[in-house]
Amino acid sequence: MSFIDEVIGWYLVNKRDLPWRNTTDPYIIWLSEIILQQTRVEQGLPYFYRFAEKYPSVSEFAAATEDEILNLWQGLGYYSRGRNMHRTAQMVMEDHAGYFPKKYDELIKLKGVGEYTAAAISSFAANEAKAVVDGNVFRLLARYFGIEEPINSPKAKRVFTALANELIDEKNPATSNQALMEFGSLQCRPKNPLCGSCPLQPDCEAFKKGLTDILPLKLKK
Ligand code: ADE
Repeated sequence: MSFIDEVIGWYLVNKRDLPWRNTTDPYIIWLSEIILQQTRVEQGLPYFYRFAEKYPSVSEFAAATEDEILNLWQGLGYYSRGRNMHRTAQMVMEDHAGYFPKKYDELIKLKGVGEYTAAAISSFAANEAKAVVDGNVFRLLARYFGIEEPINSPKAKRVFTALANELIDEKNPATSNQALMEFGSLQCRPKNPLCGSCPLQPDCEAFKKGLTDILPLKLKK
């Protein structure tokens, strides 16, 4: 079986039931992805529920005051995320008539939406074949393929994104992306990865060479 088929097969059995995986609403996916930046899933979940309940659509989010948004953001940190989201919501109201974009090329123009977030929203909401490359994916790919390029080097994002785009299951981009992130998060953990129960172990370069504790490499800055 190919690498991506193994990962998807594992995902279908082991995935967590997370609320943003049961929707194709780009606004709701955007909400979840911004909340989850620099935030663990367990910490972000209650915030996601609060925001999605209070502001079920982008028009309600845009109509809130900045104080209301920042109040609800209380405790999550990186408050610029909350402020940027408010501006993005207002841009969507003005420039997209309140319809949150789903296409990568439109999303990438929005404030606070970078390559990662545009790939996440376009793949989850519209099944566009754009690979997501977050910390979990960097780690999984670095270990499995034995890539010694430091993940914070100037060219790392290009190298890993190109590889991830080659690996993506074109027929199921959403599942493919969720599966890579979930596998990195739960199985190929940063510390104490679960190699003993890992379906990828026989072909994993890091495992074969005893480098699972070393990879991914990171430059000290
Ligand atoms: N972290 C960031 N995005 C995520 C997602 N879609 N599922 C699980 N964890 C995530």
